[in-house]
This record gives sequence, C-alpha cells and structure tokens, in this order.
Amino acid sequence: MNTHHKSLIILLALTLLAWTATAQQPRPKGPPPSQGGIAFTASTLPKDDTEKKILAVLADVNATQRRGNMTVPEQDGRILRVLTESIGAKHVVEIGTSVGYSGTWFCLALRSTGGKLTTFDIDPDRSAKARENFKRAGVDSMVTMVLGDAHETVTKIKEPIDLLFLDADKEGYLDYLNKLLPLVRPGGLVVAHNMTQRMADPRYVKAITSNPALETLFINMETSGIAVSLKKR
Ligand SMILES: C[S@@+](CC[C@H](N)C(=O)[O-])C[C@H]1O[C@@H](n2cnc3c(N)ncnc32)[C@H](O)[C@@H]1O
Repeated sequence: MNTHHKSLIILLALTLLAWTATAQQPRPKGPPPSQGGIAFTASTLPKDDTEKKILAVLADVNATQRRGNMTVPEQDGRILRVLTESIGAKHVVEIGTSVGYSGTWFCLALRSTGGKLTTFDIDPDRSAKARENFKRAGVDSMVTMVLGDAHETVTKIKEPIDLLFLDADKEGYLDYLNKLLPLVRPGGLVVAHNMTQRMADPRYVKAITSNPALETLFINMETSGIAVSLKKR
C-alpha cells in the first residue's frame, strides 16, 4: 500500500468517525426550534368593532356552551369562515345549528360577502340558545333557522347553495348530500365535519370520493376531520 492509499484510508476513517459521532448526538427534548422565533399559531384579529363584537360572543359561547352541544373547535370555525369568504358565498346552508357557534363563524364571512345563512336543527332547546347567540352577536338578520328533522325540512330549500355544511347525524350525511348536491352551484363547496375514520359514515366517504364531478380534500384529519368537496365547474 503506498502513501497515497494510506492517506485516503485515514481520511475515510475520520469522515466515518465524525459522521457516527454526529448521528449519535442526543436529540434535544421539546418542540423543534421555531423558525427565527416565529410561533406558528394564529387567532382571528378583529379588523373592526363589529368583528370584535362577534368574536367576543364566539369566545363566550366556546367557553360556556360548548359542553354537551358538540360545537366545532375554534380552529374549524376559522376554516369555515375562510372557505365562505374566499368563495364569496351568498348562501350557506348548515345542517346542525346546535347553539349557533359554527353559524356565527359563517356570519362573520357572510357580513362581508352580503350573504345569508339557512341553518337546520331538530332540537328546540339548542335552537333557542342559537337564536339568542345570533342576536347578541348582531347577526340574526342574516340567519334563517329551520326547526325539525332536516331530512324532511331541507326539501323546502329551492335556491342555489354556495356552501353546504354537514354537521348533524353522521349516518344522515349521504341523504343530505343526495338531496342538496343538485342545489350546490358549480364552484360551490360541500363541507362535512367529523370525517375521522372513527366517526365518518363510509357510504358518505365513498360518495364524495367516487364522484368525478367532485374534487374532495380531507383536512384536519389529526383532529376533527373535515371533508371539503368542490363541485367542479
Ligand atoms: C355537532 S352538533 C352541530 C354543531 C354546530 N354545527 C356548531 O359547530 O356550532 C349536531 C346538531 O345536529 C342536530 N341534529 C341531529 N340530527 C338532526 C336531524 N335529523 N335534523 C336536524 N338536526 C339534527 C343536533 O340536534 C345537534 O344540535
């Protein structure tokens, strides 16, 4: 072995040693370092006094009425607002009003698009609370509430829908889709909540993933699970 070969082997051995030492360094505990000190969390910052008032009611409902009323998490409410406002929705239809939490997030968007919300629930007590919450948020003039079994009452809708939100009986989603998809305008959205493997009705999942007229995304699957289906133009 000549000197050249010897130096090459020593160099290789040193590189291997350095690589092994680095690979064996213990990983630092805790969250990964933030990028330049930026924390990747966000909440809605009110743009004006009206938004501030609506957000205050949302925070109160979230803090005091969430238990037992199955309202969407705040982050999902923000997603609903962004979807609604970004497609310029004029008519949102919601199945499952509960106490009006998600409905108020829709109204936050609809006040800037000049749109309205039609929302359905079967439970009179929750609907009464929702009516109260819409009123104190000052969005009640944008909302039509329909009380009764939505499988029957949705047949009253005759107008086009820009965004359909399904958040009631999970096994009923397919029936709601069959009844209302023809009214969703091309370019409109069908948004279904609780799409985790544990909660979703497989028949609904099949319907939204096997229809070539729809483009479906599943988001937030590590938490509540939301299916967003675009009705293609
Ligand atoms: C998960 S909660 C809705 C939460 C609401 N979207 C929110 O985030 O504020 C489901 C609601 O669906 C309603 N519901 C269940 N079955 C229904 C049906 N067949 N017709 C209408 N509403 C129904 C329940 O009464 C309940 O208030």
